[in-house]
Amino acid sequence: MAVIHIRTVPDPVLKQKAKKVPGMDPSIRKLISNMIDTMYEYNGVGLAAPQVGVSLRIAVIRLPEEDAEEIVLINPEIIKKTGEREIEERCLSVPGYEGIVKRALHVTVKARDENFKEIRLKGDGLLAQALEHEIEHLQGILFVDHLVSPDSLIKLPPAGTETET
Ligand code: NI
Repeated sequence: MAVIHIRTVPDPVLKQKAKKVPGMDPSIRKLISNMIDTMYEYNGVGLAAPQVGVSLRIAVIRLPEEDAEEIVLINPEIIKKTGEREIEERCLSVPGYEGIVKRALHVTVKARDENFKEIRLKGDGLLAQALEHEIEHLQGILFVDHLVSPDSLIKLPPAGTETET
């Protein structure tokens, strides 16, 4: 178990476009394992590699449901999204804040899994939101970069870290 320090704004790594992963190797496997440990430690729904200081296109997601398995996404790309809603969002890299953003209702992603096998994943609801949020991290975009309005950003009381991504 290894928990990695989470980078927060204004760390420049969060603004960088992450590079594609060329293939699996022991260091990538270790990074993914540490990202999963870190996501659990901070009760995150997801975590992207730039949030632990690594500018590579890797994200992990785990929905807050019993028996939900971790989803590992390497080089993910959104290939389809439909619908639209406005929803509250948080991020472990923007601690203590919540804001409202527009998100799709249904998202389809093409990626590679932890074995570097090509996968397609369809998500609705919170999974769709997490997929968009994490893939934006890989493009150097944070939810605070596209709030529906600046005054939708609120400062949270100290407790409450359940749905940060
Ligand atoms: Ni985030």
